Amino acid sequence: MPFLSDTLSRVKPSPTIAVTNKARELKAAGKDVIGLGAGEPDFDTPQNIKDAAIAAINEGKTKYTAVDGTPELKEAICAKLKRDNNLTYTPDQVTVGTGGKQVLYNALMATLNPGDEVLIPAPYWVSYPDMVLLAGGTPTFVEGALETQFKITPEQLDAAITPKTKWLIFNSPSNPTGAGYSADELKALTDVLKKHPQVWIMTDDMYEHLAYDDFKFCTPAEIEPELYDRTLTVNGVSKAYAMTGWRIGYAAGPKDLIKAIGKIQSQSTSNPCSISQAAAVEALNGPQDFIASNNEVFVRRRNLVCEMLNAIDGITCPVPEGAFYVYPSIAGLIGKTTPAGVKIEDDETFATALLEDKGVAVVFGAAFGLSPNFRVSYATSDEALKDACTRIQEFCASLS
Ligand SMILES: Cc1ncc(COP(=O)(O)O)c(C=O)c1O
Repeated sequence: MPFLSDTLSRVKPSPTIAVTNKARELKAAGKDVIGLGAGEPDFDTPQNIKDAAIAAINEGKTKYTAVDGTPELKEAICAKLKRDNNLTYTPDQVTVGTGGKQVLYNALMATLNPGDEVLIPAPYWVSYPDMVLLAGGTPTFVEGALETQFKITPEQLDAAITPKTKWLIFNSPSNPTGAGYSADELKALTDVLKKHPQVWIMTDDMYEHLAYDDFKFCTPAEIEPELYDRTLTVNGVSKAYAMTGWRIGYAAGPKDLIKAIGKIQSQSTSNPCSISQAAAVEALNGPQDFIASNNEVFVRRRNLVCEMLNAIDGITCPVPEGAFYVYPSIAGLIGKTTPAGVKIEDDETFATALLEDKGVAVVFGAAFGLSPNFRVSYATSDEALKDACTRIQEFCASLS
């Protein structure tokens, strides 16, 4: 009898963590490595949020809470959804988990049966397909293209839906591309979904507030109220409030689904950290002005990276609407050879050679389901970004 479960054999370890580990190993061996793999803002959590956590500790908010969130946090989430998204929810339609990741996972665990398909636009956040597999479902994919800034079209969506499709996972602005769907683009997709009543929408709005230039964030239930009853709107405080380590995410949706998610949570993690929940109340109810100033920094870095990468022969780097990632194509470099004689056969060989030759750690596109590309996270200092992009320029110039 095998000791490890069959479920485990269905999933692979996170490729983004593998890249981070490799970069760490090289650094430990004394190599000068710049990591562009991080999926978190390099800013610190704002002081008012830290103070709220300290106050929570001092006030004794150190016990178990209600399984799916304190009443204060649920109220703050309802107010946020009304204020930012014009969506009306009551606290019993809201669940809070240990990060958006746990909420997404719980929702899939609560709803998938063998044979159920979950449609995932590629390139995608690395965890979606594996979470679907862990929950016993089948991930299916629809590929965005460089020409459409990696966004899927309504025709593609329509063609990819089958009678077994239970969920569409939607993520805008996207990890790994930064691409954001405009209201018109999203409406074209929700029009398709209206025709397929068996399909529910799991929208991952984690990068909502990281939206640049004149791009306006929008979310499916807001764009198409007819879909309200089959939409789970997932969000969290990790990215906008620089709170990745605090582990608070949440979702709003139909009561029965929210209850089912709570049932899974009650038998796994019980409740998200009481202190982090108090901090999240302050994040959502407190001043929001630092988001705009953080975004100014992100826009400057995005422009810097896009300019430096687009100056390279063989690389095309679309300028995205949000998040803190760019997803350049290396189609023009495939088939070339490094000075050490390594042939660039795909994006994985590119990323490995770049790390070994120049000490720049990026994540290869195959990890996100669309090649030949790589992902750069620009959530690091301007100096590090300039240095890294100069090294990428030198590396590409050395190929023949
Ligand atoms: C697209 C996307 N969704 C969800 C998450 C999970 O965020 P958290 O669990 O920190 O709330 C991440 C984190 O990297 C992400 O990039």
